[in-house]
Amino acid sequence: FQPKLLQGRRLLITAGPTFEPIDPVRGLTNLSSGKMGFAMARAAQEAGAQVTLVAGPVHLDTPAGVRRIDVRTAQQMFDAVLPLAAQHDVFVATAAVADWRPAGTSDAKIKKQADRAVPVLELVENPDILAAVARLPDAPYCVGFAAESHDLARHAREKLQRKNVPLVVGNLGPATFGRDDNALLLVDAQGEREVPCASKRALAQELVREIAGRLAARG
Ligand code: C5P
Repeated sequence: FQPKLLQGRRLLITAGPTFEPIDPVRGLTNLSSGKMGFAMARAAQEAGAQVTLVAGPVHLDTPAGVRRIDVRTAQQMFDAVLPLAAQHDVFVATAAVADWRPAGTSDAKIKKQADRAVPVLELVENPDILAAVARLPDAPYCVGFAAESHDLARHAREKLQRKNVPLVVGNLGPATFGRDDNALLLVDAQGEREVPCASKRALAQELVREIAGRLAARG
């Protein structure tokens, strides 16, 4: 692994799930472990980059030399990322951001009562962090991720266009969340390339090579 591939580059990475509170003890979240984003942060730092990692609630140690900002909700992740984005050369959105949050959060625990109807949860849409960063006038080079249950290539290409980013990385492995390995599908305007199953550490190093090559080609 070439250690200085990203020397002098600044990378901003989101990782993990978000947690959208319903009341003080309940919320909506997903099964993202944060492992891929943390592996990316470590590999980029080892390749010489200055790395800022914005992490949702995860149980992972901060990679050495990485600046970490902890957040809980999608809105907090958005608020942390947007002001920092233009100071970075690359934005890698590995976080599994909740698409929706409860329309309101109760300050007190919602109690179950025999005579009360089952509560109905109204949801509102969260801001799309990746799309917002890609829209900035001085946007960094943006890399999106796609975790899908079916039609990965089609969905990854659709994200490429809808979010207007140059590279989307699809999780090919079944049920990648929480695992230590995965296979990837890299999708860009030119086509697709499969990266065979490997540890998330090795995949992160491969993505660092890929991103470094794209930055160099861009000049
Ligand atoms: O289609 P979807 O919105 O799930 O696209 C996933 C990609 O977009 C991932 O890179 C994810 O980190 C990013 N994303 C985001 N903010 C959202 C939703 C997704 O940055 N609210």
